[in-house]
Amino acid sequence: MIDVQNLTMNYGSFVALDRVSFQMKEGEILGLLGPNGAGKTTVMRILTTFLYPTSGTAQIDHFDILKDPIEVRKRIGYLPETAPLYLDMQVEEYIHFVGEARKMKGKTLETRIGWVKEACGIKEVWKHTVSELSKGYRQRVGLAQALIHDPKVLILDEPTSGLDPLQIMDIRELIKGLARKKTIIFSTHILQEVEAMADRIVIINEGKIEAQGTQAELTEQVRKRGDSQAATLEDVFISLLRAKSKKGAKRPAL
Ligand SMILES: Nc1ncnc2c1ncn2[C@@H]1O[C@H](COP(=O)(O)OP(=O)(O)OP(=O)(O)O)[C@@H](O)[C@H]1O
Ligand SMILES: [Mg+2]
Repeated sequence: MIDVQNLTMNYGSFVALDRVSFQMKEGEILGLLGPNGAGKTTVMRILTTFLYPTSGTAQIDHFDILKDPIEVRKRIGYLPETAPLYLDMQVEEYIHFVGEARKMKGKTLETRIGWVKEACGIKEVWKHTVSELSKGYRQRVGLAQALIHDPKVLILDEPTSGLDPLQIMDIRELIKGLARKKTIIFSTHILQEVEAMADRIVIINEGKIEAQGTQAELTEQVRKRGDSQAATLEDVFISLLRAKSKKGAKRPAL
């Protein structure tokens, strides 16, 4: 469903992404894990065709991000780091607006609106103005806009960032409820988040993929490198990043 090939992104002389490649099957949930500045958002912005890579490409549902960006966009629902909300619109108005912008109308639009309203748990704020909503509800409305056109692929940039523990659980449940029905990439730097939600994990650091696989595969890789103590994903993550910093790699100056 998703085939990412050697994505590289340079900002001037700074290499934000360096030959990132990974594949995903239909219905998989992939957790993109990495520290601040690792390149997670850059990968997502390229896959959603908001940013052109310096080199490399990707196919989403057989459509190339460079050759067929419009077809790619039709197939993707995207929740950026900050949900793209219009603060002075009512939730109802906003969701209608996004549906129409996605060229939906009539019965099809009404059916989808009914679905996202229920699935994203936004019935109780339906008539509220977006500016009145708590961060958790804003994220739900953000998810609703990403799901309105029933996309095959969902790309969620830190969907639970800044939420309280109860709201985090809600959003995680919501995303897990979409498992198998959608192919989902979400980013986070919270290790428990990938443990809780992802089928497969890509660990990215300084623009490079450090490791990828299931949690069991990653643990195995770290053990093979000689760290027999690595049991949790946190151990694996720290072990991989430590191995890297021992090689003398520097964090980019920000
Ligand atoms: N427009 C830009 N111009 C220059 N550098 C940029 C630009 N956008 C991103 N970068 C740099 O590229 C690197 C990767 O950024 P990116 O936002 O993809 O990281 P991230 O993994 O999403 O980080 P975070 O966890 O903080 O969201 C960072 O060092 C960032 O400063
Ligand atoms: Mg980011």
